Amino acid sequence: MNEIVIAKSTMILPETVAQLEERYTVHRLWETEDHDAFITTIRDRVTGIATEGWAPKSLIDSLPNVQIIASFGVGFDGVDIHHATQRGITVTNTPDILNDEVADFAIGLLLATARGIVTGDHYVRDGRWLQGIMSLKHRVYGQRLGILGLGRIGKIIARRAEAFNMIIAYHGRNEQPEVPYRYEQNLVDLVRDSDFLIVSCIGGETTRNLVNREVLEALGTSGILINVARGSVVDEPALIEALHSGTIMAAGLDVFANEPYVPEELIRMNNVVLQPHQSSATKQTRIEMGQVMIENLDAHFSGKSTLTPVNSILDATCSASTNQIQL
Ligand code: 8YV
Repeated sequence: MNEIVIAKSTMILPETVAQLEERYTVHRLWETEDHDAFITTIRDRVTGIATEGWAPKSLIDSLPNVQIIASFGVGFDGVDIHHATQRGITVTNTPDILNDEVADFAIGLLLATARGIVTGDHYVRDGRWLQGIMSLKHRVYGQRLGILGLGRIGKIIARRAEAFNMIIAYHGRNEQPEVPYRYEQNLVDLVRDSDFLIVSCIGGETTRNLVNREVLEALGTSGILINVARGSVVDEPALIEALHSGTIMAAGLDVFANEPYVPEELIRMNNVVLQPHQSSATKQTRIEMGQVMIENLDAHFSGKSTLTPVNSILDATCSASTNQIQL
């Protein structure tokens, strides 16, 4: 049996781990306290890594015979893909199967934030309705939606938004002439003409802090930010300041700069809806994601082509064609 290490697992289902254990000798690195000591005992035997978007250079270099890193999730910004590619290691992800799930969640988060669905729930439970009606909220249908990153997920979000008669525009590196939405080359221009901004681009260095103070100011005092991409895309201190000062109205956040740690300031605010990175979190989708991760490993170890390799889009990542490789 080939030997693999599961490097990080907070969301990989026990069913998926059990299936891996039927096929491979599995080393559970994520359950160990002393990673270095554990790796020393297995380093030469391990030929594959299964992981949840996490494989830094130090991990890759500690396992000299690794041939494949099969990542669970579409985003692989925590995998040092440059280094892996240089070492000739195949890197795979689990794209597409979660597109609809994440798009549903993005729209749900927008509705929850703009219409006050979570605060309304608290309002009833806390007995405050008995004292009077809740404050008025923000209309969603027919409003102007800006999408940062019109990739596979962004396009499905846009289709969902069409059903709400929203006026849709997007920003990414390249214009996509085949889509019926307005392209804005400049993110500040996009948000200046948007009521809502949904972030659905890739994470990593090419998009770090794209949503900065200037963008938040342009979004404006009635603007709402929704992030289902990566916390790194938004300058978190600038966002906290913008929410505090009323520079923007509200935010719905599924992702954060340093998960699972969420800044206290955000936790104390009532103009935010906070979620624990749930956008792909249904049993059905997580099982399917696990399946694709396993199929990639199986294909590799039986000498076939992997289903969803990402090494070949390395150049796109570097030359920053972000909308070719959105989430
Ligand atoms: C995953 C995600 O559930 O796929 C991604 O990139 O952000 C999530 O939806 C998560 O990454 C699994 O680790």
